[in-house]
Amino acid sequence: ERVVLAYSGGVDTTVCIPYLKNEFGVKEVITLAADLGQGEDLEPIRQKALKAGASESLVVDAKEALVKHYAIPSIKANALYENRYPLSTALARPLIAKLLVDAARQCNADAVAHGCTGKGNDQVRFDVAIGGLNPDLKVLAPAREWGMSRQEAIAYGEQFGLTFPVKKSSPYSIDYNILGRSIEAGPLEDPWTEPLADVFAMTKGIAETPDEPEYVEIGFNTGEPSSLNGQEMTTTALVEALNAIAGKHGFGRIDMVENRLVGIKSREIYEAPALLLLIAAHRDLESLTLTADVTQYKRDVEETYSRLVYNGLWFSPLKSALDAFINYTQEYVTGTVRIKLHKGNAMIVGRQAENALYSEALATYGADDTFDHRAAEGFIYVWGLPTRIWSQRMGND
Ligand code: ARG
Ligand code: SIN
Repeated sequence: ERVVLAYSGGVDTTVCIPYLKNEFGVKEVITLAADLGQGEDLEPIRQKALKAGASESLVVDAKEALVKHYAIPSIKANALYENRYPLSTALARPLIAKLLVDAARQCNADAVAHGCTGKGNDQVRFDVAIGGLNPDLKVLAPAREWGMSRQEAIAYGEQFGLTFPVKKSSPYSIDYNILGRSIEAGPLEDPWTEPLADVFAMTKGIAETPDEPEYVEIGFNTGEPSSLNGQEMTTTALVEALNAIAGKHGFGRIDMVENRLVGIKSREIYEAPALLLLIAAHRDLESLTLTADVTQYKRDVEETYSRLVYNGLWFSPLKSALDAFINYTQEYVTGTVRIKLHKGNAMIVGRQAENALYSEALATYGADDTFDHRAAEGFIYVWGLPTRIWSQRMGND
């Protein structure tokens, strides 16, 4: 049997290699590590897999794909799970699943594997996405079955000559890609405990942020982020630039208790400066370019979309249908949003769009007002009619 394993270089996925071979009887383990912009050199990770017994160790550059095919649709959807979490981890899972499925086909593998535990969302996302892409492919999840603690996993690996440097190891469980960092576990498991400074890597604490505000202008083209301060660039370059700028001003932290699909409440810290900024800017531009009823209806779609992505249904018919609706709404979402970054805040202070539905002539309280005030009277007569009739019949107390 030949298996492609999603590989991060961490303890769990490394132990998965001998475990798959010895407990699952797998002949060849091919590891796949994805570069998702986590800013880590993947060559040592590639070597580590080979040392742990992988017969082949693949590294795939997937940062651009993550932004283009996962972040952009999500930004168009203003997707925030439980109104707060911009899905930075959740979006990477279906992409990794796709890389596994593609690699399995290329390598003629019988199965794919991942190192997720049985308590999280990630296992659901991997398994469901893989099933959606290739329902015939077997999925192995050794860490879901082995029931080993971290120490036991290390001891298991040592039996096979694996060593895990006892460098000052972090008490946290961290997932990191270009879209953000997700930090959990350790002292964070008490939801009353404030995160220490060592939790954060993408964003500065307020005490370390510049005293002067900084303005950024983000341009969108048909809903897609396309320029920074007037300079056209790929969305990936834009995300990288905004992570640096917004992070420097301390914007982009979230501390929340969220509801996992598996029924557990979990305390999470997130950093996602660029993604949160882009969603805020995009939503603001929509206020200028979408009609009221589309905006209001889209809110419901966004809520469903966010939940569906969180819950692992990226490759599902409902997701495709919602994408079709959302993409239709984005045709005129082209314009620029001006944001003032200062001391952890991102204040939107201006927006403009060639196809803006906003009309100053209608909105103004000045002399050049073109709104027909007398027309309001008839409108209100009709609008309030059902209320008056109800009151006449039923009384009002
Ligand atoms: N709870 C978040 C999610 O479901 C992030 C989990 C990421 N994993 C981690 N080890 N922090 O998307
Ligand atoms: C895990 O348990 O695999 C990480 C957390 C999550 O998936 O929600």
